[in-house]
Amino acid sequence: MYDRSKTNNQKLLNWLDEVIALCKPKDVRWADGSEEEWKELCEGMVESGSMIRLNEEKRPNSYLVRSDPRDVARVEDQTFICSDQEVDAGPTNNWEDPAVMKARMNELYDGCMSGRTMYIVPFSMGPIGSPISHIGVEISDSPYVVVNMRIMTRMGSAALAALGPDDDFVPCMHSVGKPLAEGEQDVPWPCNPDNILITHFPTDRLIMSYGSGYGGNALLGKKCFALRIASCMARDQGWMAEHMLILGVEDPQGERFYLGAAFPSACGKTNMAMLIPPAEMEGWKVWTVGDDIAWIKPDADGKPRAINPEAGFFGVAPCTSYKTNPNAMESLRANSLFTNVALTDDGDVWWEDMTDEPPAHLIDWKGRDWTPDSDEPAAHPNARFTAPAGQCPAIDPAWEDPAGVPIKAFIFGGRRVADVPLIYQAKDWEHGIYVGATMGSATTAAASGEVGKLRRDPMAMLPFIGYNVGDYFSHWFKMGESLSEHPAIFQVNWFRLDEDGKFLWPGFGQNMRVLRWIIERVRGQVGADESAL
Ligand code: OXD
Ligand code: MN
Repeated sequence: MYDRSKTNNQKLLNWLDEVIALCKPKDVRWADGSEEEWKELCEGMVESGSMIRLNEEKRPNSYLVRSDPRDVARVEDQTFICSDQEVDAGPTNNWEDPAVMKARMNELYDGCMSGRTMYIVPFSMGPIGSPISHIGVEISDSPYVVVNMRIMTRMGSAALAALGPDDDFVPCMHSVGKPLAEGEQDVPWPCNPDNILITHFPTDRLIMSYGSGYGGNALLGKKCFALRIASCMARDQGWMAEHMLILGVEDPQGERFYLGAAFPSACGKTNMAMLIPPAEMEGWKVWTVGDDIAWIKPDADGKPRAINPEAGFFGVAPCTSYKTNPNAMESLRANSLFTNVALTDDGDVWWEDMTDEPPAHLIDWKGRDWTPDSDEPAAHPNARFTAPAGQCPAIDPAWEDPAGVPIKAFIFGGRRVADVPLIYQAKDWEHGIYVGATMGSATTAAASGEVGKLRRDPMAMLPFIGYNVGDYFSHWFKMGESLSEHPAIFQVNWFRLDEDGKFLWPGFGQNMRVLRWIIERVRGQVGADESAL
């Protein structure tokens, strides 16, 4: 049924035999990650009505997809950590007994791919061959997942070749949960919104996802592997998997200084990772390593080094513009995918605040005519672009360095309308852990549920810690003991409002002033007053 000669990894072959027998796909195909495969899958989705090819001149080799309106964000209510003991999932996760959940998932998976192709998607999180990287294999019945994984990870033959006969990998099982009966016409966005389950098995290092085709629910390398399962691996192996962007700041003397910054979902991590300093700070430059996730391991000397495990940006589109983030706009100029944004009359994409003036006419994310008088936004608030990181004009020359980049500071930030000042520094590592652990932020559209409500979000990891949050804090303390050099820790808040409800801080490029202060503090070049805080 499938070409078993592609790998000599027995764990992989055994698992594939099992999932194929269970899911009963019409056929099975290895994803090789090639350009031809991308073209074939995208064109196939255009023909079936799942994708729209964008104007080749305006947005070369790029496509628009509209999801089912019931499948537009991560579903934290339906996300489970199935550790052996409930206490190991802790108070911040949904828990189910692993045997019970596996039985439930296997029931859902039984025959779930009939009438569809199963894709086998080998991928590396991190540069192939880096000692900080890890390999996963996703099986999915969604060609949309395959083409997104090609941008977001190092996917295909090279990743498979890196998996030796006895090497371990994280099995990631995904189905949209919509089998096709003989002769049944497919829908543009197959999903099973009433039965979505995103489940993690830390003991087996296994992921099982069912019913959703969207973002973090379906691109399993991202939140499921690189954060939830990786946080468990990191705890056991003495490293850190964090919801952090990584950037390099270059000073006017040409010296580069790397830091990791943790912000909750949709709080501007992509903007900060690609910041362009204001004209008055000539000579300063920001280099992008990653915009969402950092894997940090101590090097041989015990100093922390980080990689971005991803290869692309899965960014929130609304509010991204040449004003707010020109580097993101350049990154998505071509070879990109767009989900739930609006379509212009000349076959390009648009979303709220992309331009000062909205176009006079659009097709909105639900496929309806839209004008500036329409009551609803043209793009969904969690509409996304998927763009190759290598296309970012500010991509750091060392972003794929297998050794990672040396991390000198961590920043914690959230959306706080009051109370939290623009910037302050923790006194030491332990105090920094307290600052990160007590973080709070207003909720955003990145996950389903109420928007704008203050919720505690320790280290911006609340939905992503794959084990007990108390053990996660202990792990930070243990890392403090094992690291020979401790990143300095800061808290920032760009979102404080004045009495008139206006932002107190201009943000964007001006955030460079805050970054400069951080560097000067770490280098011991400026003093600071100890405050009550
Ligand atoms: C994301 C998220 O998509 O945090 O990065 O939700
Ligand atoms: Mn994120």
